[in-house]
Amino acid sequence: MIIGERVRFRGVERSDIPRFVEWLNDPEVTEGIMVHYPISQADEEGWFDRMLTHPVDERVMGIEAMDITSGASAEAWKLIGTCSFQRIDWRLQSAEFGILIGDKNFWNRGYGTEAVRLLVQHGFNTLNLNRIFLHVFETNPRAIRAYEKAGFTLEVRERQAEFKHGRYIDVLLMSMLKKEFLSIGEAQ
Ligand SMILES: CC(C)(COP(=O)(O)OP(=O)(O)OC[C@H]1O[C@@H](n2cnc3c(N)ncnc32)[C@H](O)[C@@H]1OP(=O)(O)O)[C@@H](O)C(=O)NCCC(=O)NCCS
Repeated sequence: MIIGERVRFRGVERSDIPRFVEWLNDPEVTEGIMVHYPISQADEEGWFDRMLTHPVDERVMGIEAMDITSGASAEAWKLIGTCSFQRIDWRLQSAEFGILIGDKNFWNRGYGTEAVRLLVQHGFNTLNLNRIFLHVFETNPRAIRAYEKAGFTLEVRERQAEFKHGRYIDVLLMSMLKKEFLSIGEAQ
């Protein structure tokens, strides 16, 4: 378990798959990610099995949130999404990450930014990465804003690298270096 203030990461379980199928068939959720076909339970079971063969540091983690507004007990943690590092290059100490908050009740409440901050902290302080990067569609201002708040900056605009709703869109490559992460810590 990787523990933050309002979010924490745990390993995903086979029993989580129906939630993933639900999220990955929600057009509002998939608008910002590279999923453009209906996902079945069988698809997701296959994905889950393949994911378990990945190196441990590249496995998908479940994001759980403490929903302080739910009126439930203080220990009420709820699965709201997933995140993971991919393409870790140990020679370059570089990795890409992806994040998805599938439970839309948790959008725009700072949970995504907090999860990105926690993932980045894990990446720099535990995995000893030096560069963390991500790809985001130019049409996803919520994600771009969350990444900026967490300390990422635009590095490259990949022109017309995605095609959605009948038009090409640019894909932004954003990154953060360890020295930038450390300077944020010093500023706080
Ligand atoms: C992208 C995602 C991780 C962001 O998480 P989140 O918890 O919703 O984001 P946060 O609340 O931390 O921050 C969102 C910010 O975007 C702002 N925002 C939301 N909609 C916006 C819009 N249309 N234009 C500009 N800013 C917008 C919010 O106001 C907030 O900024 P603020 O705190 O300065 O007010 C989450 O929404 C998600 O997973 N979406 C679906 C999948 C996805 O798109 N994944 C990312 C793929 S790159």
